[in-house]
Amino acid sequence: MTDPLRKPVVICRDVIKDYGEGESLIHALRGLTVDIYPGELTLLVGPSGCGKSTFISILAGTLDPTGGTIEEFGLCLHQLGKNARADFRAQNVGFVFQQFNLLPALTIAENVAVPLVIRGITKATAVERACAELTAVGMGDRVTSLPNKLSGGQQQRVAIARALINKPRLLVCDEPTSAVDAKTGHTVMTLIRKLALSPDRVTIVVTHDPRVFGFADRIIAMEDGRVKEDKRVQPNIPMEDGEQP
Ligand SMILES: Nc1ncnc2c1ncn2[C@@H]1O[C@H](COP(=O)(O)OP(=O)(O)OP(=O)(O)O)[C@@H](O)[C@H]1O
Ligand SMILES: [Mg+2]
Repeated sequence: MTDPLRKPVVICRDVIKDYGEGESLIHALRGLTVDIYPGELTLLVGPSGCGKSTFISILAGTLDPTGGTIEEFGLCLHQLGKNARADFRAQNVGFVFQQFNLLPALTIAENVAVPLVIRGITKATAVERACAELTAVGMGDRVTSLPNKLSGGQQQRVAIARALINKPRLLVCDEPTSAVDAKTGHTVMTLIRKLALSPDRVTIVVTHDPRVFGFADRIIAMEDGRVKEDKRVQPNIPMEDGEQP
């Protein structure tokens, strides 16, 4: 889908991803072509195994495509050397996972600080900034808690704070509501939508959860490693109890 009024900042052409070889060869992406725009919430939906996680992992730079081209913010990420790519990821990409992926032995402030420490920022400064980010997601009063002392929704908000600590231009979320209850899912999506509207940020949310659909500006449906349907939608944010407004 093209939008003549705006410029896409993620441009994917004929992206192919194969896993394995010989008899175990799997064609996960079979020529995926799509443009993605900043300042809006793009959902990626489709049946299990159609390649959603594969695609966003490629966008995030944690996985290499087998073929095709991908330009992100004017850069061909997969043509960069290992170090340049790691730098790009550290500075530009935030990833929110279904199962939160928090480190159990670290406090939540330390967890959120990890991406900064990796970039060489001192721990004290990193934790201070992490506390500010946690406050922004409503977790400022729990900064010294360990992850296992929190509810699923609280852990997901911590994971979002960690994904945001570097103010990423690309925010990818893989099933961010599937491990939390409906009310928490609503809170998480309200937060993600607010972040998605930031004009310079590209936000892609993979979901199976129909309650998330109303938060979207655009829904891309994949099937069998390709785009099957791509539609722009009017956001219709559900009320917190799941009722339509
Ligand atoms: N590391 C891997 N090695 C081999 N095959 C893989 C690997 N990761 C994914 N696949 C295969 O690639 C295809 C696409 O997988 P992917 O995880 O991208 O699907 P998905 O759309 O995210 O599915 P789900 O909704 O179940 O999360 C599937 O057939 C899957 O089995
Ligand atoms: Mg997946």
